[in-house]
Amino acid sequence: MTQDELKAEVGRAALAYVTPGSILGVGTGSTVDKFIDALATSGMPLAGAVSSSERSTHRLRAHGLRVVEAAEVERLSVYIDGADEIDGRGCMIKGGGGALTREKIVADLAERFVCIADESKRVEVLGRFPLPVEVIPMAAAQVARRFAGLGGRAVPRAGFVTDNGQLVLDVHGLAIADPLALESEVNQWPGVVTVGLFARHRAHTCLLGTSLGVQAFVF
Ligand code: 5RP
Repeated sequence: MTQDELKAEVGRAALAYVTPGSILGVGTGSTVDKFIDALATSGMPLAGAVSSSERSTHRLRAHGLRVVEAAEVERLSVYIDGADEIDGRGCMIKGGGGALTREKIVADLAERFVCIADESKRVEVLGRFPLPVEVIPMAAAQVARRFAGLGGRAVPRAGFVTDNGQLVLDVHGLAIADPLALESEVNQWPGVVTVGLFARHRAHTCLLGTSLGVQAFVF
């Protein structure tokens, strides 16, 4: 199966985690695009979706699905999103699509994070995928120097501005042994909007698309 087919399969499998008539948290990325398409095709009634990006908002609306502002919701039972990497404890690197800040906001509203990913995303140690960090432009050089002190090489994402009007640094060369500790540390650095480490907001369930079918992991 191609990577695209694996993404479509986990997108369909995620429908089992959606409660008909509920408001759902919806992430961002090519895997989530497949999920949105499957959701629309299924005809499952939904009260609405809290979207983590302009990209997903457009896709949801194009299918006639109602998008609800995060501010209108106190709690979501489920958030469905992809990942760039996921480890054996459900900790993730996210933000390859640059939507990390809104993704973390919506994940924070949810009781359960269901990660949908193809098997290439499963790793033992996070960090081969460059860690995205959304920063206020004034702080970019300063934050890059801090990462250099940890052995990382921060590269500004060329020609890219987030939905929040900020920059993204992609940090190469990290082997993240303790994702929770690194997330906590980077969260303290002035000018960091969001670090794309999801350890505090790790996945509760991962649906992994493999050549043998979809495997479900509960963390
Ligand atoms: C976007 C993300 C995505 O979930 C991540 O990049 C995975 O994307 P894809 O499903 O296209 O592989 O974090 O900010």
